[in-house]
Amino acid sequence: MAGSPEAVAQAARLLLDGQIVALPTETVYGLAANALSSRACTAIFKAKGRPLEDPLICHVLDANAAEQLAVLTPLARALMERFWPGPLTLIMPKRACVPKIVTAGLPTVAVRSPAHPLMRSVLAACGLPLAAPSANPFGYISPTCAQHVWEQLGDRVPLIVDGGPCALGLESTILDISGPHPAVILRLGPLTAEQLEPVLGFLPQVAPKNAPMGPAGPVGPAGPAGPLIAPGLLERHYSPKCPASLFSQMPPVDTRPHACLFFKKPAKYLPSANCRVFWLSEDGDVHVAAQRLYAQLRILDTLGLQHLYLQQAPGADGLSSAINERLGRACSGNIAENEGPSD
Ligand code: TXA
Ligand code: MG
Repeated sequence: MAGSPEAVAQAARLLLDGQIVALPTETVYGLAANALSSRACTAIFKAKGRPLEDPLICHVLDANAAEQLAVLTPLARALMERFWPGPLTLIMPKRACVPKIVTAGLPTVAVRSPAHPLMRSVLAACGLPLAAPSANPFGYISPTCAQHVWEQLGDRVPLIVDGGPCALGLESTILDISGPHPAVILRLGPLTAEQLEPVLGFLPQVAPKNAPMGPAGPVGPAGPAGPLIAPGLLERHYSPKCPASLFSQMPPVDTRPHACLFFKKPAKYLPSANCRVFWLSEDGDVHVAAQRLYAQLRILDTLGLQHLYLQQAPGADGLSSAINERLGRACSGNIAENEGPSD
């Protein structure tokens, strides 16, 4: 349903009735339910086929609404003041009203205030905090337009509100400030470590995968022995069904039907009988590349090819690091062997 006052009212009615609704945010589309109702949130897990160990993010209008769900420190307030509404999810100690199913039994809760006007109108109209993971079947690529949600969850969701393509295209940055360890990034996203630095007073580190947390931060060794600090961050996530590998300069020669996704429109590289050629941005704009990434991966996945070669974004910081992290997951960490000559 196209975003309109009627759509907002209908979404609010369904949410107050304990049902799930797909809603646009500035990052990706979310599958929302009343965050204070275990039963409503159970429906999210069911529709997505999501394991119950993977906790949900709660969406609120502002810091006051966040305070109902979490214990806010002065640092939390400063971050909210500076970056909300926007693509920053904060992990904070939870309050008793947050059901176990939302936090997967953890003592912390993930909270963010989305910027998309339609999502904000729905939050205001229903007056509830909304738990909402990305509106995709578990493990697949996150949806960045209403059509993506329709294609995969259309038969399982009573309402999809169409708010146009998502402006940012990558899921929010997750920052764990639940202490006593220093703030640490659990998921790279549109808000970069460099942007967070002035408020934190230091450049936050990215937590190593699955490393248990000690008082000074993540402590090794990472692995199955420790608790998952961002339990949803499994290796194969955001993945196309077609096997894929990463390349840096030039894709390898491959006789199978395949596609190459360049970061920037290549000057010389030409398609051939076996090779389809795509790019994320005309001129290498990293924001455009992030915004288009998931839609492009979905298109590549529909072509019936045998392999996808995905080019890494240049640079190791800022938004490039978030794009490369998603590309790495799409490829399950596979790196192409024998790259072709670079000119
Ligand atoms: O941009 C976004 O964050 C989107 C939109 C819809 O807001 N949502 C989203 O949700 O990406 P989801 O469920 O796909 O990812 C939520 C991540 C998961 O990796 C989960 O493990 C982590 O947040 N998470 C949730 N609660 C947590 C907690 N208490 N501690 C650590 N990680 C948590
Ligand atoms: Mg997700």
